This record gives sequence, structure tokens and C-alpha cells, in this order.
Amino acid sequence: MIIAQLSDFHARPHGNPAYGIVETNPAIERAVDEILKLEPRPDCVLVTGDLSDCGLPEEYGIVRAALRRLPMPIYVIPGNHDRRDTFAAELRPDHPYLPQAGFLHYVIDDFPVRLIGLDTVVAGEDGGEICAVREAWLAEQLAQGQGKPTVIFMHHPPFPVGVDGMDIMPCKVSSGFAELIARHPEIERVLCGHYHRPIQLRFAGTIGYVVPGTAHQVALDLRPGTENRFVMEPPALALHVWKPGLGMVSHLQPIGDYGPRRDFVLDPAYPGKPQTVPAQ
Ligand SMILES: [Fe+2]
Ligand SMILES: [Fe+2]
Repeated sequence: MIIAQLSDFHARPHGNPAYGIVETNPAIERAVDEILKLEPRPDCVLVTGDLSDCGLPEEYGIVRAALRRLPMPIYVIPGNHDRRDTFAAELRPDHPYLPQAGFLHYVIDDFPVRLIGLDTVVAGEDGGEICAVREAWLAEQLAQGQGKPTVIFMHHPPFPVGVDGMDIMPCKVSSGFAELIARHPEIERVLCGHYHRPIQLRFAGTIGYVVPGTAHQVALDLRPGTENRFVMEPPALALHVWKPGLGMVSHLQPIGDYGPRRDFVLDPAYPGKPQTVPAQ
């Protein structure tokens, strides 16, 4: 099974780039193009939040049109730049798995890997939360999985990443959340967005994974006390490949044109090149 992960589209009304300069809408189209180029094609696509920049119906119309170009199932989850009600109303016609009310969580059990989408949004806040209600829902879904390989995907990473500009807007979790995750070794990954950078870490016995955005990235800054700034580093998508007996392997694929694929033509001086033995 191949799961593609896109994140943080930040779609904008036409003529209004994000932050005044980032043309996010063509970047969504380039991300879709990148998925359409892939062979074999992913079995499904996860979009981990911030599909819009301001939660406007026009922004969701742009997202909807772009995602309609993809032939495989697509599963979306909101982020802090989304407005839960507008997100659901505008996207539900194309995404009927979205609940009719309340948190926008769901479980997809149509594949060899179970997909659990978790809504971490707190209206009006940058950071997120897995409150007691959401944690209880997750615990129930995990209990029903009976050990089947599982991926949890959400917008806000529920773990610190050691970057002050990111960790000041955390996803609040209970002291028992990591224990819940650790009790389920079938969880292959906790997939997130929000930080617009590639980040991986060990978390509660699984792997915490943050994918870059499709448009702007957050500039890496490990100095204590600094605030996030953005930079136009290459966007990327993730491919999480699962095979029986192997488990899950995650690949990061830059989005964009980086030239043709070329053969490795070895120089004769290459130490690993087979040597011809001179005739005696
Ligand atoms: Fe974002
Ligand atoms: Fe975000």
C-alpha cells in the first residue's frame, strides 16, 4: 500500500497571495501534478490540514477543484488556518466520510493499513489540542482495530520538536496520551503537518512524522527563543509505503522539476568497478 501525504496548501482567493507574496494556489496544482506523475500511483492521499489560509469558501473551492484531478481516494483533516464549519460544508460533497457534526475525525478501514484522522483544531488558536473527548474517541477506535497496522494523521504534531518557534504553539495533550499511543504498537506513524518542514522523531514507541508544506516552508532556526519565519525552500510530499513483512517506510519526494533521471556512468578509477585481470 502506498499512502501519499500532502499538507498545508494555504489556498487563497485569486489575486491575494498568502502573506502578500506566496502564490499558494499554483503550488497546490504542482503538488497534484507530482502525484499524477508517480508510478505506481498511491492508493490514497492524506492532506494534513491548513487546506485554506483563512477558511473562506472561495479558498475551499480552489482546493476542491485541485483535488478533483486526483483519481484515488483523498482524506482531508483541518488545521488552524481552516474553519471547521466552512471546511466541512465546502468539502463534504466530495468527501462524504467527513462527520455531519462535531469534531472532524474518522476511520478509514478500506486498505491494509487503517487510517485514523484526528481533528486537533481549537477555534481561534494557532496551537491544537487532543482534549479528553478526542482522546477517548481515539482510544475507542484503536481498541476496535485489533492490532491491524494503523496510521494516525492530524494537523498539529502532538509532540515537541525542539524548535522554540514551533513548540510555543503546541498541540495540548493529556499526560496519558503518549501512554495510549505506546499501548498500540500497531501504530506505524503519527503523521502531521503544521510545521512546514521535514521532521521525524521517536514518539511513544512509534514515529512522529511532519511533512513539508506544498508552498512556503518554515526556515530552520535552532537558536533558542527565535520566532518562526518562512522561506521558499522546495516543497515536498511524503510517500509512506507499507508492505507485509516489511512494515512502513517513508520517503520524502520534492515537488518540482529537477531535471531528467540519469544513469550512473562510473569512472574507470572508481574503486568499486570490477577489474579485468591482465593475462599472464
Ligand atoms: Fe500551515
Ligand atoms: Fe498550521
